[in-house]
Amino acid sequence: MPSAVQSIWEQEYAKPGLPSSQRAKPSNASPFVLHALRARVVPASARLLDIGCGSGRNAAYFANAGFEVHGIDFAAAAKRKFEDSVSRLTVERRPRFVLGRIDRILPFDTAYFDAAICFTTLENLTDDAHIENFKRELARVLKPDGLFAVYFLTPDDEFYGPRVKTGPNGEKIVVAEDIGLTQRVFDGCEILRLFAPPFSLDCSRDFSFEDIRFGVRYIRHLKAMVLMNSAGERASAEPVHRTVTLCRRNRENRHDADN
Ligand SMILES: C[S@@+](CC[C@H](N)C(=O)[O-])C[C@H]1O[C@@H](n2cnc3c(N)ncnc32)[C@H](O)[C@@H]1O
Repeated sequence: MPSAVQSIWEQEYAKPGLPSSQRAKPSNASPFVLHALRARVVPASARLLDIGCGSGRNAAYFANAGFEVHGIDFAAAAKRKFEDSVSRLTVERRPRFVLGRIDRILPFDTAYFDAAICFTTLENLTDDAHIENFKRELARVLKPDGLFAVYFLTPDDEFYGPRVKTGPNGEKIVVAEDIGLTQRVFDGCEILRLFAPPFSLDCSRDFSFEDIRFGVRYIRHLKAMVLMNSAGERASAEPVHRTVTLCRRNRENRHDADN
């Protein structure tokens, strides 16, 4: 039986309201993430997992860049859209969709992926325990030194920001009233606290762009971070320290996106 959250997503794909379910163009963060991944992996020989892949707009983008893409999402309605959109791609390896939950054991072998992306989906894992499970599985399915790119809503976002409430453990929660979904927003330091170790920061970028929601103009503020998996290496205090230092530097170094 689908959970309440899963039913919300099924309905959302039946009658798309959110930008991510309506738009065919890839997320604003995709070119930045592709550039960051290319610095470390050769797409033509790399496997990429798209976590919470939705209709496949980003899966298509990374497949066009040469990656072998596997998407996972729990919405059957997203699977139909995904398969329809990737059927039109003229690439050697078409993205594949796996129907499944991202907060359970991931249905992939250990060290199967060179990279993973999770675009505006981590928001659905609202408590630390779910994120901890997710992190453990992510570190398992990624190769050592594999990359994880996460793109997420921040509390600075003009649309969601004013509605943010603090949850029982200090997490920042917002209810998307349009679809009745409870989501979590993050800042960069919180992502590092949740994912390091075994992940450490490779690079990050802030994205600001204009968006019209319900006829009103908002400046949206999201952030992309690329983290590296060091699972398998001996844990030491050093990577965490480095991450925290970078986190401070990063705060002082904001860039606006050009779209
Ligand atoms: C905002 S959409 C983003 C979709 C896609 N990443 C994009 O940028 O177009 C969030 C996606 O996460 C999926 N999702 C949310 N919670 C999930 C879970 N626990 N397991 C699997 N998929 C989940 C939803 O079905 C939805 O497709």
